[in-house]
Formats: sequence, C-alpha cells, structure tokens
Amino acid sequence: MLKNDQLEQWDRENFFHPSTHLAEFARGNVAQRVITGGSGCHIEDRDGNRLLDAFAGLYCVNVGYGRQEIAEAIAAQARELAYYHAYVGHGTEASITLAKMVLDRAPDNMSKVYFGQSGSDANETNIKLVWYYNNILGRPEKKKIISRWRGYHGSGLMTGSLTGLELFHKKFDLPLSQVIHTEAPYYFRRDNLDQTEAQFTAHCVAELEALIEREGADTIAAFIGEPALGTGGLVPPPEGYWPAIQAVLDKHDILLIADEVVTGFGRLGSMFGSDHYGIRPDIITIAKGLTSAYAPLSGSIVSDKVWKVLEDGTDEYGPIGHGWTYSAHPIGAAAGVANLKLIDELNLIRNAGETGAYLKRVLTDALGDHAHVGEIRGEGLLCAVEFVKDRGSRSFFEAGDKVGPTVAAKLLDEGVIGRAMPQGDIIGFAPPFCLTRAEADEIAGKLIKAVAAAGL
Ligand SMILES: Cc1ncc(COP(=O)(O)O)c(C=O)c1O
Repeated sequence: MLKNDQLEQWDRENFFHPSTHLAEFARGNVAQRVITGGSGCHIEDRDGNRLLDAFAGLYCVNVGYGRQEIAEAIAAQARELAYYHAYVGHGTEASITLAKMVLDRAPDNMSKVYFGQSGSDANETNIKLVWYYNNILGRPEKKKIISRWRGYHGSGLMTGSLTGLELFHKKFDLPLSQVIHTEAPYYFRRDNLDQTEAQFTAHCVAELEALIEREGADTIAAFIGEPALGTGGLVPPPEGYWPAIQAVLDKHDILLIADEVVTGFGRLGSMFGSDHYGIRPDIITIAKGLTSAYAPLSGSIVSDKVWKVLEDGTDEYGPIGHGWTYSAHPIGAAAGVANLKLIDELNLIRNAGETGAYLKRVLTDALGDHAHVGEIRGEGLLCAVEFVKDRGSRSFFEAGDKVGPTVAAKLLDEGVIGRAMPQGDIIGFAPPFCLTRAEADEIAGKLIKAVAAAGL
C-alpha cells in the first residue's frame, strides 16, 4: 500500500479524534495508529503490526474482520441503489427484509423496528417515543427517565445524560434535569462487603423503590439499562436482578428500555440479553452487532404495547415528526441482512457462548489467584479482569495510578488489544464471535506477561 509520509502530520493537524486527550495528542504524546486491514480476530496497521483484537473494535465487529459476504452485499447495494429515504412509506428490499429478520429474532412482544445510524441516536429516538407515548396517553407529567450509575447509553445530549459515567458529564452541563440515576448493579463494588449477592440485589431494588417514591411514580416514564453493564465495567447482573427490577417497574407503570447495543445479536451466547436474563422490555436498542459495524446502522425495536399508542397518536396528531435523512440507509440495511445471515450460517452465537465460557476459564486459571486481581467475570464473549490494590480488604488503586491503562499498554506490546475501561482498573475483553480456543489461550498467556510487565 502507498505510504503517505505526511499522514502522521495531517492527522495531528486536522483530525478531531473522539474520546481522546486532545492536547496530549496535538503534542505528540498519544500514539497514532493507522489501521489498514483486518481478517478474523486480527487487525493490521501501516507499520506492519498484526494485533489480536480482543475487543472487536468497540465490541462491534462481531463476525470478525474481512467478511467478503458482507463487503459484496454492500457493494451490490451501492451499485444498484446507494440511497433512498424511508420517509412516508418508502423503503428498499434490504431495509424491509432486515426489519423482518430483526423481528423474527426479537422477543415475542416486539412489533416494529425503526432504523437509525448509531446507538446514541437510537436511544435519543427511544426517549422521544417514550415522551410521545405518555403525552398521547394524557400523562404529560410522566417524563423522567431512570438510568443506572455506570450505565452507558451514548454521548449525545440526552444519551450522554443517561450514561452514568462522570467523564461524559463533567464540563458538558450534563445530565439534563429529566434524567435521574440509581444504583449500579455491580456486586463486586458494593459498599457493604458483608452482603450476599441476593442481599445486594434486594438493596438495588430498595434503592429503586425509594427513588420512585421520592420522585413520584407519576413523574417517571421509563427505566433504561443494559442487560449486562458494558462500558461501566463489563458486569453481569447480580442474582435475580432483572425479574425483581421488572416487577417494580410494572407496579409503577414505568416502561423498560433494554439497551442491547452491545448484547444484541449474540454477545452473551443468546440472541438478545433480554432472552438471556428473562427481561420483557417495552423498547430494545440495537446497533453494533446489527451490522457487525460493516456499515453504521442502529434500531429501536418497539413492543406491541408502545406501538399501539404511537399509531393512535398519529390518528390524533398526524404523521410522527421524527426521522433522519439516513434512517434505514440501504447500505447499512444490506450489511445487516448479510451479517445476520452469516451469524446463523456459521453458528456464531453458539461459539460466543462456548468460547466465551472457555475464555473466562483460562483467564481465571491464569490470574485468578494473583494478589492484585479482585475479580474475573463475564458472560459469553464479554469478560473482564478487575485489578485491586489489596484483595483481602478489596481496596482499589487511585485513578492517577493508571493501573488499567498501563496493563492495556503492556498487553498491546504483546500484540493483543484489550480495553482499559474508563472507570476503574478493569481490562475488558469482547472479541469477535469467531474467536478460537487457541486465540483465547493467547489472550490469557499474554495478559499474564502484561500484568508482570506493569509491575503488579
Ligand atoms: C450499551 C450502549 N448503548 C449505546 C451506545 C452508543 O452507541 P454509539 O457509540 O453507536 O452511539 C453504546 C456504545 O458503546 C453502548 O455500549
């Protein structure tokens, strides 16, 4: 490939990178990496490095890199019809087919899917739908949204507010006033170390009940949560969490939005996290795994219950005033159809469950007894290793010690990409679903070296 020697300079001079320390990048203190190719679980950069991407980009390249079937579907769609909008009843064969494929895979009570481009815009759509729903039902006061600390739902104005991580709020004047946060379902980080998992679940439920009581159920429209916490730490829910939360929400007529941007289409070893944990959502957010990131596409899957009210609303007030130019973009839809077919044909969801369990096991064998490893957890191909200062007292390092980022950097030196999660010393693994056992062994073996190299 042609090497443009000015690329590094152009990058520092012109490119505003997301989620980056802007000043350090401009000063040259943040490494640049130009990615040029990928195949299976590996990516390559222009310096000739080949890296095992154990985070599948941003846990989105679920089928792995270099899938020609999806590339061909995108090319064919672009040649035939690169774009037409989806307003006022318009569609393409790809978008209509994909809607059917999504509904065929979704929980039984789901009715329709609205397509956007990103997880963030899908959650923006969801909140608008929830507000519209309550206005149509004549409940204009029922508008607040409950989210969880450490939840991640995007970085827009509303979705950045829903996100329960400090980095996404500070200096942005977020969260907006309509958003309130409740306890993170994160057993390992519980305040009361004497609590059993079931007692901790009861505590989370009691916190939710108390919040609803304080705010008034008639002011609360919806609760949003990821089936398993993602960016906030990769944490499967504590025992009995979802049925107990669902019961509280049902009692107070509060809608449940399951944000399945990470868990949708197989990451936990089930089609949806909602199936996996017995959640019955009113709206489901999908993105990443819908196309395995071969093209940007997201969706809001709306239940029968919500859909009926939306229909009534348009009878009363006319066409719904919501849509994007790129809603149901044909290229994204074509990628989605090819991606979902490939997941079925290659039985990748089963592999995510089985190889995910294997990965957790080998990580536990490798580091489960380490003095600075507090917990190794996971579900399917979503695994985390959490580091602590002291195991006995479960004391944590200071953020300034940068333990997580240092381990991730040392792991990268070994040729494996793991993600230092933004809050806490947590190394996350969420590889493509085609991960092999040999690759899982490689991740575990290299993590041992990285932890030693980080001085732990
Ligand atoms: C659970 C969840 N919801 C929403 C989003 C936002 O998606 P996007 O980055 O495509 O806007 C993410 C992104 O990581 C996510 O993990």
